Amino acid sequence: MIKQDACSQLNLKKCIKMKRLICYLPMLLLLIIVFSSCGNNTNKTSNTITTTDSTKTGVMQKDWGEVDGKKVYIYTLTNKNGVQVTISNYGGTVTSWITPDKNGNKSSIIIGFDSLQGYLQKPPYFGALIGRYGNRIGNAKFTLDGKTYQLAANDGKNHLHGGIKGFDKVVWDASIGDTSTPSLTLHYMSKDGEEGYPGNLHVTVQYTLTDNDELKIEYNAETDKPTPVNLTNHSYFNLTGDVSNTILNHTLMIDANNFTPVDNTLIPTGEIKSVKGTPFDFTQPKKISKDINAVKGGYDHNWVLKRKDSSLKRVAVLSDSISGRTLEIYTTEPGLQFYTGNFLDGKFKNRDGKPINQHMALCMETQHFPDSPNKPKFPSTILKPGEKYHTVTVYKVVSSER
Ligand code: GLA
Repeated sequence: MIKQDACSQLNLKKCIKMKRLICYLPMLLLLIIVFSSCGNNTNKTSNTITTTDSTKTGVMQKDWGEVDGKKVYIYTLTNKNGVQVTISNYGGTVTSWITPDKNGNKSSIIIGFDSLQGYLQKPPYFGALIGRYGNRIGNAKFTLDGKTYQLAANDGKNHLHGGIKGFDKVVWDASIGDTSTPSLTLHYMSKDGEEGYPGNLHVTVQYTLTDNDELKIEYNAETDKPTPVNLTNHSYFNLTGDVSNTILNHTLMIDANNFTPVDNTLIPTGEIKSVKGTPFDFTQPKKISKDINAVKGGYDHNWVLKRKDSSLKRVAVLSDSISGRTLEIYTTEPGLQFYTGNFLDGKFKNRDGKPINQHMALCMETQHFPDSPNKPKFPSTILKPGEKYHTVTVYKVVSSER
């Protein structure tokens, strides 16, 4: 009765319209829900690219801050096994790699921070992309086609890892891959004269996390003037997933009969020396602790990888009995810088607040040899206009149990 009264008081046409609206309301609501969920999951072809659910296979993008007026993001790549790698477009940094140990407990085998702030405090290249030149260039200079180039000296008188503001401290443009395997492509244009290097260099790095628990890194570059290029990644690994355990108990094999000895500023002497009978012999799996004390300061050297050509090949195997994890390293590069975290001193704390002390993490940097621009006998690192720089490195985690 009351309803009828209310209706009769209103204009009859208006009343009918309202009733229709009430009928369509549930349908309208349904449409809104469907559209909004599509927006959140930004589906691209067969890849589940989700901005809301980091447990699903695909890539999740999250705001992480701003540097140099550019937006910084953190991307979570998740494969079908639930293994996750997080990467930021700040420095192209791999911030974590979360994978199960032999008991199925998950932890990150890469040290790092969960916030951009940590990286802005300039840790020693944690997880970062290194360029234009990985490792040192002696006296921060080189001569190319008769011209001497003065680079930024940021390691005493030497140039290290691309200079004061290397590729590890810039914001890269990022795009999420549209294949079913989660991937992230980063691009950076390094200007002619940046840190002293000649030529505009376009660099593209693609990170892919495969369903075989491999982190594949593909490096590409092109230049408009001849320039040295030697790109690498500076992830620090501790396979136990806990920086209270030293990496000295890890076992390592490096498929190399030779290494490049260094002077007291860590610049190669130019000699290529046999590892036989030296602490540098890792041709058979050996505990890192076994001979490290015979090497002043610890290992921080380039191994000359045994290879016939530049195909992708397994060059090193690192394993840890506590976690049951093994890391295999494959590369197309001729060298491997094995660094036992000698300069880590507890100043930086890992994501869980634990101090990262000496030998609590190690690096396996695939590369050309340090100081190649000044060492004519080393494989050349000069990229010329019209040439395409292309190298591939794969880090593969093998867990003894799943
Ligand atoms: C490289 C170098 C080391 C050291 C670290 C960063 O691995 O070889 O000497 O500079 O980077 O601390």
